[in-house]
Amino acid sequence: LGKTRLSRRRFLGSTGALGAAAALGASGTVANGPIAKSLVDAVDASDQVVPFHGRHQAGIVTPVQDRLMYAAFDVTTEDRGELIDLLREWTRASERMAQGREVGSDNSDPVAPTDDTGEAVGSTPAHLTVTFGFGPSLFEANGEARFGLAGKRPAPLIDLPEFNSDVLDPSRSNGDISVQACANDPLVAFHAVRNLTRIGRGAVELRWSQLGFGRTSTTSPTGQTPRNLMGFKDGTNNIKSDDAAVLREKVWVGSSDDPGWMRNGSYVVVRRIRMLLEVWDRSSLEDQEQTIGRTKASGAPLGEPREHSTVNLGARKAGDLVIPTDAHIRLAAPSENNDAKLLRRGYSFTDGIDPVRNQLDAGLFFIAYQRDPRTGFVPVQQRLGASDALNEYIRHTTTGIFACPPGVEPGGYVGETLLT
Ligand code: HEM
Repeated sequence: LGKTRLSRRRFLGSTGALGAAAALGASGTVANGPIAKSLVDAVDASDQVVPFHGRHQAGIVTPVQDRLMYAAFDVTTEDRGELIDLLREWTRASERMAQGREVGSDNSDPVAPTDDTGEAVGSTPAHLTVTFGFGPSLFEANGEARFGLAGKRPAPLIDLPEFNSDVLDPSRSNGDISVQACANDPLVAFHAVRNLTRIGRGAVELRWSQLGFGRTSTTSPTGQTPRNLMGFKDGTNNIKSDDAAVLREKVWVGSSDDPGWMRNGSYVVVRRIRMLLEVWDRSSLEDQEQTIGRTKASGAPLGEPREHSTVNLGARKAGDLVIPTDAHIRLAAPSENNDAKLLRRGYSFTDGIDPVRNQLDAGLFFIAYQRDPRTGFVPVQQRLGASDALNEYIRHTTTGIFACPPGVEPGGYVGETLLT
């Protein structure tokens, strides 16, 4: 298995269950001094640490950081024990990176590659969160169960149906395991995915990844709502992180939901949505506002004075609906979708230019968490796909659905409730 495997073993030995439990207080913060020997030299950056441990995985209701690296992996081994090893090692590495510490302990042997790749040395923890999810293909392939997981695939982890306005690229969609790395420093997010990829060599392969910037959805109850690349405030009517009752009802898998291993977890749907920005930029301000159903400058619902004014879908002026029948916020509204609510956590992206048309390849990397996609994302996207005025300006190019298991206690590993 070569040097990589060997150093992974050494790494496990030095940072295994006992080491991790000793290093971490119950809250998951560093108990023994401020991130000593860490990526951060002589800076107490503990206020930039988001605890990795807890009942839920971090990175779901955590206030949205500025940067994203999302990655989907395919598991190349068919050995259940190796899958468990991988998840243990990924958990240990993520715990360390969330604290701003280097991955592994062999970082100064001159005749061996270092465990940590090194580019984040000197960076702060930058509120890094690493959130893991399991795709349908982890559970079964070609009708056969994988990893002894027969009967374990959750019913809400459906194969998403096709929607209008899909132009999906299968090579950039789906995957066995998803990793969402968010941080306030793009280098820190990149470093996390890179090091997990490296640790996983021989057990997983990177399938696709997406960088994101300029969070497009706030989940924080205070502060300014950020704007997406269409110039509109995005996240005004999002679920907020302090709305415990809605989170319980719409985001977290409940204490009597099946399967039991998903309780306190959540399901994520991701969509890379290309915006046809050149077309959008040629449309009039009025067209844009009618398309979204809100005022561009203030973010207020059409006909209302303020961003946070209640959306009144029944309002009429001179007999006509103020918010058009095909406006995005009408079709996405919970009242139109059997009370479907999503926790949106998306980012803007650009991948340079589309060489065929010489146009910007940019848009929204949509991320939404929910308790059950069958009553969350699916009905909303069915309506949007069929009639949303936005469809003229967007194309969905990537899709993914993943079951994000509950959080991890010190010494445990991500996916333990599924695999143990
Ligand atoms: C590029 C694609 C998209 C753009 C530019 C976009 C933009 C917006 C904007 C500007 C708002 C109003 C502000 C707010 O309340 O957050 C909004 C609301 C919303 N969007 Fe989107 N969105 C996109 C795709 C989607 C998708 C794919 C879904 C779900 C399937 C979705 C679900 C929602 C929901 C649930 C709301 C809140 C509606 C309400 O309760 O008022 N959006 N979106």
